[in-house]
Amino acid sequence: MSFILITGASGGIGRVTSELLVKQGNNVILTDVQSPNDLAKELKTDNREILSYDLDVSNEESVTRVFEDLNNQSLKVKGLVHLAGIIRDKTLLKMSIAEWDSVIDVNLRGTFLMTKNSAELMTDTGGSIILTASTAALFGNYGQANYVASKSGVIGFTKTVARELARYNIRVNALVPGFITSPMTDTIPKQVYEGIIKQIPLQRPGTPLDIANVIEFLLSDKSSYITGTTINIDGGLRM
Ligand SMILES: NC(=O)c1ccc[n+]([C@@H]2O[C@H](COP(=O)([O-])OP(=O)(O)OC[C@H]3O[C@@H](n4cnc5c(N)ncnc54)[C@H](O)[C@@H]3O)[C@@H](O)[C@H]2O)c1
Repeated sequence: MSFILITGASGGIGRVTSELLVKQGNNVILTDVQSPNDLAKELKTDNREILSYDLDVSNEESVTRVFEDLNNQSLKVKGLVHLAGIIRDKTLLKMSIAEWDSVIDVNLRGTFLMTKNSAELMTDTGGSIILTASTAALFGNYGQANYVASKSGVIGFTKTVARELARYNIRVNALVPGFITSPMTDTIPKQVYEGIIKQIPLQRPGTPLDIANVIEFLLSDKSSYITGTTINIDGGLRM
């Protein structure tokens, strides 16, 4: 039995993605630092396996514990959907080292740890690894030096490991979401929000489902010739 492992499953995009993947008939492993147990109960169906773990992607011990458990159960993982991420916005002159480190740790170290451990489970069977960057990484963003550095790192990392893992038929691609409604964007002041919408050619924010649909495609055989790429899902914001 093969599984798709999702990080950040309790978040705005993660929750909708998990729902869609279960609805499409996948077995899933839901993980998040905010326990995804309730979500796992909500999504429970008779004919699909839904596992859940409390997992901090930046913490080697936490990651190792989960993968040891998967190995002990001889579970097969055919896909990683790595959505866990954080922002700690400040301008450079006000940013503390702790704010820098926490974002780099979760967004970049977490990407390394999750990709490496998942790829190790896919070398015999192949698989699809989906990482998450941001449009902010393409052009920079005021007040987000830590976030932009981490997400730019994700793009370079994606291209490199896609080259390394292709020989195992493991595809690696990065999502580049624009402005998507989720708890991460809920706190943006109304005026700033409206200013952002004006810049989007499609004149609306993205929804978590807009991202989940692309994830479903990248996990499927319909994208079997796509690796090492970044896919903008941003209503035309950055073209
Ligand atoms: N929402 C947007 O507009 C947008 C735009 C560009 C990129 N993204 C990226 O998309 C991804 C999902 O974002 P979202 O909008 O669903 O945000 P969100 O804040 O709703 O979800 C992020 C999830 O990651 C989890 N998380 C945080 N730190 C973690 C850790 N150390 N270990 C494990 N899980 C951890 C959180 O608990 C949360 O459930 C993120 O990587 C984000 O950077 C979002």
